Amino acid sequence: MTANTHLNMNLLEGKRGVIFGALDEKSIAWKIAEKCVEQGAKITLTNAPVALRMGKIQALGEKLNAEIIAADATSIEDLEALFTQSQEILGGKLDFVLHSIGMSINVRKKRPYTDIKYEWMQKTFDISAISFHKTMQTLYKMDAMQDWGSILALTYIASQRTFPDYSEMAESKALLESFARSFGYHFGKAKNVRVNTVSQSPTMTTAGSGVSGFDEFFSYADKMSPLGNASTEACADFCVAMFSDLTRAVTMQNLYHDGGFSSMGMNPDVLG
Ligand SMILES: NC(=O)c1ccc[n+]([C@@H]2O[C@H](COP(=O)([O-])OP(=O)(O)OC[C@H]3O[C@@H](n4cnc5c(N)ncnc54)[C@H](O)[C@@H]3O)[C@@H](O)[C@H]2O)c1
Repeated sequence: MTANTHLNMNLLEGKRGVIFGALDEKSIAWKIAEKCVEQGAKITLTNAPVALRMGKIQALGEKLNAEIIAADATSIEDLEALFTQSQEILGGKLDFVLHSIGMSINVRKKRPYTDIKYEWMQKTFDISAISFHKTMQTLYKMDAMQDWGSILALTYIASQRTFPDYSEMAESKALLESFARSFGYHFGKAKNVRVNTVSQSPTMTTAGSGVSGFDEFFSYADKMSPLGNASTEACADFCVAMFSDLTRAVTMQNLYHDGGFSSMGMNPDVLG
């Protein structure tokens, strides 16, 4: 997918947001942070302490005039401090939050799916999925979301269909998507806050390329999708739309942002 948009419509003017998961310029969250600020939002950036030491997030913070707050998304204490500080820095309750976090210990340690180490699986679920529930529960208890706010998490279609190399991340994403539906009910009733997941095409990032055979898979999905793989830039545009007031009634959905991949059965292009 090559078409780019440079529309500055101030869709997020006056809005305050917290962006998790920008590690380097390839990160999907990096591009989303840039686009949110371009559209008028004020944001804070957050990542795990180890990522702050090793990543390039400081450069992004300087560029976007955004404060960086260390938080391990599996720690309630860190999340409480993050949302307290973010509200102080940004000057009020939060209009949007992006969860862009994923990591599989069994995949990283090359452990096969048929020989999973369960302590690692639990850690994977905690980092990649339960952290989303923890984020929402912390926001909910602190009453830190503005009415009609928007919460998003990034996911992948392996939650719904089998992609063998994705291993335990498939179940992590299934859990993540279910949390969006379940918490979406409570946040909707309490504050008119919407909660959705965006199911993105394979994307060349640190997390993405950790999956074995990623390059071949990337080009397979690109050929299978009538619009080609959705780019990081297009994903960022879509997330801006989901954070804007133009999507107020969309909630508890898993939204495919994948160039059409999820609806395809067969495309002759992959056979050629
Ligand atoms: N790359 C793809 O192909 C693809 C496709 C669909 C969905 N996604 C999803 O997009 C999201 C972002 O991934 P990405 O591809 O941009 O890769 P990335 O590696 O740039 O981002 C993953 C982020 O998770 C952060 N993280 C890990 N453990 C953490 C913790 N304990 N606390 C806080 N943050 C922690 C990392 O520091 C990193 O910034 C993930 O949820 C991923 O599963 C990626």
